[in-house]
Amino acid sequence: MTAAPARTRPDKARAGVSPDGDTAIVVRAVRRSDLDQVIAIDATVTGLEKRRYWASVYRRYGSGERSAQQFLVALAQGRVVGFVIGEVRDWEFGSPPCGWVFAIDVDPQVRLGGVGTRLLQAISASFRRAGVRKLRTMLARDNTLILSFFRSQGMMAGPLISLEMDLEA
Ligand SMILES: CC(C)(COP(=O)(O)OP(=O)(O)OC[C@H]1O[C@@H](n2cnc3c(N)ncnc32)[C@H](O)[C@@H]1OP(=O)(O)O)[C@@H](O)C(=O)NCCC(=O)NCCS
Repeated sequence: MTAAPARTRPDKARAGVSPDGDTAIVVRAVRRSDLDQVIAIDATVTGLEKRRYWASVYRRYGSGERSAQQFLVALAQGRVVGFVIGEVRDWEFGSPPCGWVFAIDVDPQVRLGGVGTRLLQAISASFRRAGVRKLRTMLARDNTLILSFFRSQGMMAGPLISLEMDLEA
């Protein structure tokens, strides 16, 4: 298992988080002009700069036209420091409509400052407004960091399991 990185509390002022709370963080729908910063945060986590991928994610989730598709960014002092992406899926996997979180990433320099929590709260509120009452996600079994985060937010193992197989050429 991959261990979660050691927890070192960031300087909250540097992170744009006020000492008595996280009021300096603004969460809003992504804009095209945010994409370079989103790509840079993703590249710090994955090591890959996936410009075409992010352009297509923006087209699908970032239009802001449908409440079922959500691509939100967190800003500290005007700088993008994190993002979350998800959508409401109707009756997939035999379940009533529920909100799925596909991706959440926070700039490593501002982690443990409440940004991830704000992002998850914001997308949950959007899903609630869209009429769903359940939030789901999938994560790699050995990603103990993301597991610790989702557990801290109240998420627990659900009734679904994932299955896969290799497809022969
Ligand atoms: C997971 C992640 C989004 C958390 O963002 P964050 O802004 O640091 O989260 P918060 O500050 O809101 O932390 C909320 C809680 O999560 C848990 N948590 C967060 N980081 C943790 C860590 N390194 N170790 C253990 N628990 C942790 C804690 O319970 C924390 O609450 P506490 O600080 O009161 O103890 C961030 O670490 C990240 O982007 N990681 C990489 C994500 C990734 O792998 N994405 C790809 C798959 S989608």
